[in-house]
Amino acid sequence: MLRPWTINLAERVGIARDAPLYMQIAHALIHEIQRGRLLPGAFLPSSRELASILGVNRKTIVVAYEELIAQGWLATSATRGTIVSTSLPEAQEPLPSVNRLPDRTGVAAPEYPFLAPPDRPLAVPSGSWMKLDEGVPDGRLFPADLLARAYRVAAQNASRENRLHYRDPRGTPKLRKSIADMLRSQRGLMVTEENICITRGSQMAIFLAARILIKPGDAVLVERLTYEPAVAAFRACGAVIVPVNLDEDGVDVVDVERQCRAHRVRAIFVTPHHQFPTTVSMRPERRLRLLDLARQFAFAVIEDDYDHEFHFGSQPLLPMASYAPARTIYVGSLSKLLVPALRLGYIAAPREVIETLAYQVSLSDGMGNTLTEDAAAELIETGEVRRHVRKTAQIYAARRDAFAHSLRQEMGGLVDFEVPEGGLAFWLRFRDIAALDRLEARAPSVGLSFASSHSFAAAPDAERGLRIGFASLTEEEAREGLRVLHECATS
Ligand SMILES: Cc1ncc(COP(=O)(O)O)c(C=O)c1O
Repeated sequence: MLRPWTINLAERVGIARDAPLYMQIAHALIHEIQRGRLLPGAFLPSSRELASILGVNRKTIVVAYEELIAQGWLATSATRGTIVSTSLPEAQEPLPSVNRLPDRTGVAAPEYPFLAPPDRPLAVPSGSWMKLDEGVPDGRLFPADLLARAYRVAAQNASRENRLHYRDPRGTPKLRKSIADMLRSQRGLMVTEENICITRGSQMAIFLAARILIKPGDAVLVERLTYEPAVAAFRACGAVIVPVNLDEDGVDVVDVERQCRAHRVRAIFVTPHHQFPTTVSMRPERRLRLLDLARQFAFAVIEDDYDHEFHFGSQPLLPMASYAPARTIYVGSLSKLLVPALRLGYIAAPREVIETLAYQVSLSDGMGNTLTEDAAAELIETGEVRRHVRKTAQIYAARRDAFAHSLRQEMGGLVDFEVPEGGLAFWLRFRDIAALDRLEARAPSVGLSFASSHSFAAAPDAERGLRIGFASLTEEEAREGLRVLHECATS
């Protein structure tokens, strides 16, 4: 006899098409039991009957039943054939769909008090024809063969030395030492591996810094135009975000002092080398005054030095962490130096801070990917990273100049900009904000994507502009992107 639930069963089979058919049928039966449509003790049809209802081979049903009997969902009774196990509790509630959040009306579903804010959609890559990024390297220039070789060496060494186990949450000794050596010799930070914690990208580093610094209600200062994912991480840890002014010399330290007098400030987040998004470098007198204020008001400086190596024309500026290590949580990344896909970032900080951070790593991540870490260390130690940076810095310097040229040609009448001394992006200020509005409204329809001009604003009245990366595109690609940008702004 065709029972009502068999119809549902037929509907559910085929949902997970890549699972074996017997497993799909077993899952469909479990679903019916959980929904309370198949009660404990209820008969199941004979394997022949169900096979004919579902149009499958009888053997498939036999295997599905055997599997469910082995798992305790079904039982056999000598007289009654196959039944739903009588030791199961009767289902009380209909199950919520896996694709929907639990319906809070009436169903005793878990609460999710930390649901993602609805105004912050998940950052999944767009399928657009052309993406103008915010300043990432050209992955096509990445030495993939060298990395593959470094992975082989890392895997062979780790296996031979019996190190393929759970390891130090601070990261592998080899990468921590390589990073410490690099920071000491090239950026003037007085650090050893004891001062380094490896993270999965600098975003994780920023989040971990927020976790160990912020108590709910503490103020975190950010520049009025800033890196939004950092702001989101601070907010997620309970921070009250206080925007401070910014000009062409970096953060406005007078405003910082004013805010310190008005709030209990726990930290300031800055990108002093190449301000995100405006690209300006913070001048030395501002840096020193900011550090004075950090001492006076006992707040930490989170220094995000995300694209340190790419400074054109002069040597990169020394990080604040090189002259104020006790006040600074220094965040770095291999995402620009190599590629974001490696997910390698790090924090340099006093040893006790590193140990506190490592505790947080152990809670959420256990430890990093030791093979990737050792492979990256191999590339640093063998000098490949230096060679890669030297080569790409030349290419990016040429792309920057060509981009400036194309910008003047394609967008000259519409935007003002400075050619950045460092970093991998331009900051474009629109003379007429209506042109920016038009551009942002039209770009999706022609398949062009870029970060919204609203995404950098930490203060509601912050200036709007576009941050457009020049490094990941060839000169022709960039020119084409800018031509379409102009078309969208003017048509
Ligand atoms: C200012 C800034 N900080 C941090 C990051 C995060 O980089 P990652 O997590 O890949 O190291 C980025 C990425 O673009 C960035 O622009």
